[in-house]
Amino acid sequence: MSAFFLHLYQMKRIGVMTSGGDAPGMNACIRAVVRSAAFHNVEVVGIRRGFQGMIENEMSLLNVNEVGNIIQYGGTILKSARSKEFMTVEGRRKAYDNLVANNVEGIVCIGGNGTYTGAGVFYNEYGIPSVGAPGTIDNDLYGTDFTIGYDTAVNTALDAIDRIRDTADSHNRIFFIEVMGRDSGFIALNSGLAGGAEAILLPEIMNDYDDLIANFEDNTKRKKAFSIIVVAEGETNGHAFEIAEKFKARFSEFDIRVSVLGHIQRGGKPSANDRVLASTLGNAAVEQLLAGNTNVCVGVVNQEVKVTSYSDAISNRKSINPVLWNLSKILSY
Ligand code: F6P
Repeated sequence: MSAFFLHLYQMKRIGVMTSGGDAPGMNACIRAVVRSAAFHNVEVVGIRRGFQGMIENEMSLLNVNEVGNIIQYGGTILKSARSKEFMTVEGRRKAYDNLVANNVEGIVCIGGNGTYTGAGVFYNEYGIPSVGAPGTIDNDLYGTDFTIGYDTAVNTALDAIDRIRDTADSHNRIFFIEVMGRDSGFIALNSGLAGGAEAILLPEIMNDYDDLIANFEDNTKRKKAFSIIVVAEGETNGHAFEIAEKFKARFSEFDIRVSVLGHIQRGGKPSANDRVLASTLGNAAVEQLLAGNTNVCVGVVNQEVKVTSYSDAISNRKSINPVLWNLSKILSY
């Protein structure tokens, strides 16, 4: 398409979908997409259940009124899925035919790396442009300081840690608390630091189990209470139950419990931060798509909207903040 044509042509109808694990703030992002598109007189089709709904033709127009009164809710009104069928050539062909039948000319995909990968392959095969918005509680996406849903999930985990600390303290127990994050430790590090955990075990840190043992022995000598150990689900030493078993075998005189927080971290009202981020990025994604950009995702870095190619977002790994990690060690002394 020539630059001249790109300049004159504006899409008339775009799609929006949520894909992968849901995250608080996805609804705020859907609302921002629909209303930002309306601002440019562009219609929006809501695609249900991500790529799977595209394949099964589950899509219909979403108007500005239909996205009213959803900003405060967790989950996603469009529902979400991890589609195996979209990984097949036949699945993507069906998805393309359905988009064409519904006159959808481009898509805003709210999700994570898997979503960006699928959308990128789809563009290469069928030329359907797309822009990604980072929606996942894990915060594991390159190209944005924070992902939509992460702030809420950290606060949910923190609330649980605070409650567990009450009972841990009353009974002089040690709790291993497992938090989500897939193979990243963002939720663990921030909820652990904010919750005053005595130890935090992260997939990004080598030898953290040995450190835990050394710290525990030292704390015991100093008679310092030791009650909360936050374990990231992707921790390389194993899940919280396995680590607790190993720990128990060595320190059998202590009363040890395990609590896996699980999907509670995915639900609930999005925090103000997540709503603002979701609104900003939903708007930015529409602006990028209508400007003719594709195969990129939007993010916020140092308080500014940033655009990153899918390939960069997928191939780079975002690191945890080593300063916060060191701080957590200093403050748990
Ligand atoms: O990506 C979000 C996430 O909640 C991860 O933290 C977790 O590993 C995974 O999804 C759980 O997936 P599911 O809901 O399919 O069990």
